[in-house]
Amino acid sequence: MPGLIPDNLLEDILNRVDIVELISGFIPLKRSGRNFKACCPFHQEKTASFMVSPDRQIYHCFGCGESGNAFKFLMKYERLEFPEAVEFLASRAGVELPRFERQNDAAAGLTTQLYRINELAADFYEGILNSNEGIRAKNYLLKRGITLETIKNFKLGFAPERWDGLINHLRQKEINLSLIEKAGLILAKDSGGYYDRFRNRIIFPIFDIKSRPIGFGARVLDDSLPKYVNSPETPVYTKGKNLYGLNFAKDSIRDSDCAVIVEGYLDFIVPFQSGIKNIAASQGTALTTDQARLLKRYTHDVVVLFDGDSAGELAALRSLDIFIEEEMNVRVAGLPKGVDPDSYVRIHGAQEFKTKIEKAQSLFDYKLAVLKGRFDCRDVQGKVKISASMLETINKIKNAVLRSEYIKKLSQELDVNEGALLQEVSKIKPERFPSGITVNAVKKISNISPVEKLLIKLMLEESELISRIREHLDPQDFKDEHASRIVSLMFDLADQGKEIGPHVLINHFAEDDVSRLVCESMFMPESPSEEHKEKVIVDCIKRIKEERVRLKKQVLHDQIKVAQGLGDEEKLNRLIEEFHALIKKR
Ligand code: GTP
Ligand code: MN
Repeated sequence: MPGLIPDNLLEDILNRVDIVELISGFIPLKRSGRNFKACCPFHQEKTASFMVSPDRQIYHCFGCGESGNAFKFLMKYERLEFPEAVEFLASRAGVELPRFERQNDAAAGLTTQLYRINELAADFYEGILNSNEGIRAKNYLLKRGITLETIKNFKLGFAPERWDGLINHLRQKEINLSLIEKAGLILAKDSGGYYDRFRNRIIFPIFDIKSRPIGFGARVLDDSLPKYVNSPETPVYTKGKNLYGLNFAKDSIRDSDCAVIVEGYLDFIVPFQSGIKNIAASQGTALTTDQARLLKRYTHDVVVLFDGDSAGELAALRSLDIFIEEEMNVRVAGLPKGVDPDSYVRIHGAQEFKTKIEKAQSLFDYKLAVLKGRFDCRDVQGKVKISASMLETINKIKNAVLRSEYIKKLSQELDVNEGALLQEVSKIKPERFPSGITVNAVKKISNISPVEKLLIKLMLEESELISRIREHLDPQDFKDEHASRIVSLMFDLADQGKEIGPHVLINHFAEDDVSRLVCESMFMPESPSEEHKEKVIVDCIKRIKEERVRLKKQVLHDQIKVAQGLGDEEKLNRLIEEFHALIKKR
């Protein structure tokens, strides 16, 4: 894959990690001959068609076609960007990566500057909280049971009761005002000039998972409204793409294999302070797919804490279907009316809070209980309402076995016919299968001639063959465009005297289709025995050439037809001559 990181470094990393070891850290692998296999983590299946090759350092699924090297696996499985996957494996392999900050392009330059401005602002607010001007705010926090250590840990601050506190501070540092505006920290006045967005409020800096400040939440000190003012969306801050506190909690989430999700800043801070470290806050909005995927990097188990009896409870529950769609395990713990996680910990202590989390019910059980409390489940109308709402969630379960189990359970709980529920669920089903894209993709590669795949495989297995095959074939002789690009690169690398394996070759291409072709070729079952190899190669070359001639003839044939139709004598003669030459050559 092209990028800023030099190819030889990528190669170095790939050669130092073992793909079997890497993948078996995520899914259990079983030995199968020279390879390892498992049920594919990228599609639903009952028999294992996901293969990992320790010799070639690649994986391939014969079911869905997903394939690649260690980087690709991390990108797909952990949903990392390429540079993130490289970083991950580099640190695992003990390879030091060069730093790129200085040679970033203009856009990256902007984000770097915004992080820097946010950092300066966070420092400023922190300084104010710890000065005379911040005494009221500090007392407020202490009164709410937040310790000085916690204030420091989360870099809490206070925005002074002035219109130009931050502006003046940053101006002294000669920061461009329009950049500060881009960071969302100041607002333009109608009369010209700017004023501070956050005033007379406690500041909660929001960090991304790399602990860079990306935005701020700001709370009043009394009961006035709005209670919170938050940063607007900026080039570094997108609402619904991060979770407050995840940077502090991620290790503990991974270690405990469970994430506790709450709503508010203080619902995060207070439990964290009392020892519940695997926690993050959604900041009061419905959970998004992005947030679920972010969590999924660390755990598949989520417990969501709900304030009891909230008016929008069902709507809020609906937003948890996101986790089901991401095939995560989501449980719900309800808190007593008017109690939030912050007050629950302060009233009952951390131990009871932990018990609450352990006793959390599955989304199915919780939602059913809520619905039963709202509708009469002995009444027909009630059954219709409850089952419709439950099926909405059940329908999002991707695993067919699991889905049918839940339908069975629902039919027992509501005392309705299972067949009727299945019929209802089939009505909402189409939404789950959007398009045939993947089916088409499967076909596209599988259409490539086995002969081309076999030659690619042989050349990758035995680099000495490259020069031999090259005497007879050009890259363009390969009918498939991807095959032709792969071969062309192999020839180039051979010129440079480089010998690379399939796992490294894949890196040179960004497209999934190319890596898939390489992996599919490498996992082809038939490899000719030594004594047959020679004959097989000659045969393959011959067939590729024949195919090339056949195609060329077809093209000429079509062109001749067109020239005839147009009455273009000169062109016609030239084409016919070409056609004859082609036949003679054979
Ligand atoms: P306390 O009331 O001090 O305990 O704060 P809290 O964090 O528990 O707040 P609450 O439970 O009322 O709200 C949960 C989250 O929703 C907050 O942390 C904010 O992220 C968000 N939120 C609450 N009120 C507002 C508001 O008025 N405006 C905006 N933009 N967000 C809010
Ligand atoms: Mn609260």
